[in-house]
Amino acid sequence: MTPQDASRETEKLCRMAPVIPVLVIDDVAHALPLARALVEGGLPVLEVTLRTPAALAAIAEMATVEGGVVGAGTLLTPKDVEAAKNAGARFGVSPGATDRLLDACEEADLPLLPGAATASEAMALLERGYSVQKFFPAEANGGAKALKAIGAPIPQVRFCPTGGVTLGNAGDYLGLSNVLCVGGSWVAPKDMLEAGDWAGITALAAEAAGLR
Ligand code: 3PG
Repeated sequence: MTPQDASRETEKLCRMAPVIPVLVIDDVAHALPLARALVEGGLPVLEVTLRTPAALAAIAEMATVEGGVVGAGTLLTPKDVEAAKNAGARFGVSPGATDRLLDACEEADLPLLPGAATASEAMALLERGYSVQKFFPAEANGGAKALKAIGAPIPQVRFCPTGGVTLGNAGDYLGLSNVLCVGGSWVAPKDMLEAGDWAGITALAAEAAGLR
């Protein structure tokens, strides 16, 4: 898969809903009800971070949920790419980008949303063909103001800002012309997962899905 093809795919995903939930799953038993709750609330594109031992099994389970598109986040190495692909991930997300990681995703046909935090990083990815990128860590990096400033000289790159994005500040990003959607973990809080409050998570998802 070329970087251009990957960007076309990730752009489609980013246009499916205003928010991509960033999920940290400790218990694989949470995977199915969580995915169903988020999809039901109107957030079909789900990023499961490869940060817990349960993540790959969770991706495999969630990939069976109708109406959902499940990807793997926190891709750092070619090994992660292989594992994500084998688990059934339909896309990948990374906090930054290395040539080895980009090569691996292109070879595995896994559309990658690669992370950039600076103008130079966004330019390097664009030079390779990635016109859709994750802006990370969004808030710590200057927030919507910084992303707007990056968009002035580099308007052809569109972003999914992630990291510190909340219901309260998501609108600041979504109002920018270079933002397709945002990523955030606020729609699946740990305490609600542990309590099995799936209706509560559907309500949070519906609220996020209504953002513009
Ligand atoms: C992460 O690093 O887990 C993602 O960027 C999500 O960040 P958040 O928890 O601040 O939404």
